[in-house]
Amino acid sequence: MEKLIDPFARPISYLRVSVTDRCDFRCVYCMSEHMTFLPKKELLTLEELDRLCSTFVHMGVEKLRITGGEPLVRRDILTFFQSMSRHLDSGALRELTLTTNGSQLEKFAKPLYEAGVRRVNVSADTLDAEKFAEITRWGRLPQVLRGIEAALEAGLRVKLNAVALKGFNEDELFPITEWCAERGMDLTWIEVMPMGDIGNEDRLDQYWKLSDLRARLSEQYTLTDLAESTGGPARYVRLEETGQKVGFITPLTHNFCESCNRVRLTCTGELFMCLGQEDRADLRSALRNHPDSDAALEAAIRAAIERKPEGHDFDYSRQSVEGRVSRHMSHTGG
Ligand code: GTP
Ligand code: 5AD
Ligand code: SF4
Repeated sequence: MEKLIDPFARPISYLRVSVTDRCDFRCVYCMSEHMTFLPKKELLTLEELDRLCSTFVHMGVEKLRITGGEPLVRRDILTFFQSMSRHLDSGALRELTLTTNGSQLEKFAKPLYEAGVRRVNVSADTLDAEKFAEITRWGRLPQVLRGIEAALEAGLRVKLNAVALKGFNEDELFPITEWCAERGMDLTWIEVMPMGDIGNEDRLDQYWKLSDLRARLSEQYTLTDLAESTGGPARYVRLEETGQKVGFITPLTHNFCESCNRVRLTCTGELFMCLGQEDRADLRSALRNHPDSDAALEAAIRAAIERKPEGHDFDYSRQSVEGRVSRHMSHTGG
């Protein structure tokens, strides 16, 4: 089948799938305290998600990342991973992976490995239990740390994702780096993005430029730029002293838009062609209106890819909410 290529000649090989908008945490930059979650009937069933993801795989998607919300709080999610693993077996899919807050990993690490997952990204912005409870509003750090240990024990490669927050985790730059190094873990720092309706002004105050973080890191370590990529947007360096990879995701720059290879599917079957734009395509109707044939679904996917924009519209210089992406990160899955 003809591969998916967007109008800017970028091959689309990476699909991020949010399988639920729910989460057991409420990270302050991601959700408001009182979230209204979608009614269950709005969600794609696991069978529908399977059909949709499989169609993308047939159309050339080689990397599938399951996200949320927190993917592991969706009931029966393991059966979905187990079912998707057939595409790993056939060689069509190169990687099946997930981004998780780690709260359920202790239980899921081993079965995920058995389903063919080899790498997981765990989000944690601090290694201080009190600060962790503050940023997640009620998350318990020890539970996440047990999840990480279980994942490492199960043979999964674990990368820590930390959102860089001025005045919050600046003082943990070296402790977090060392903690990851001791466990053979890579680490990615993410610049906070202006999404959702949640205190944008705070977010501006908390904006910690990764070029600054990087400069501080280089006072302590020898940084070597790496050309290789995981197919994601992070730019990586190797710390020669520890051997670990450290990634920087600077979404407010456009430096990865030009090589963007991904689109995002929400748990309601909307396809977002860019994290930083509101345009979306309704794949759920294509799916539900044509239960017996994938042709209409494939046509809807191709038409959507034709609309993929050149880059995002995030803009911190605009002080008003205008120009900001109003949906929450949990809706599109980061
Ligand atoms: P790797 O496969 O390990 O490279 O993963 P990844 O970086 O693609 O995935 P992960 O879920 O760890 O992504 C980390 C964060 O990067 C996401 O939650 C987003 O905040 C951000 N991000 C990922 N893709 C994009 C993108 O296309 N645009 C923007 N602006 N940010 C992105
Ligand atoms: N800005 C940057 N990163 C965010 N994440 C959630 N909301 C935001 C935001 N507003 C991150 C989480 C997690 C990933 C899925 O997205 O911390 O690492
Ligand atoms: Fe949940 Fe991740 Fe959002 Fe935190 S950032 S509330 S862990 S989905």
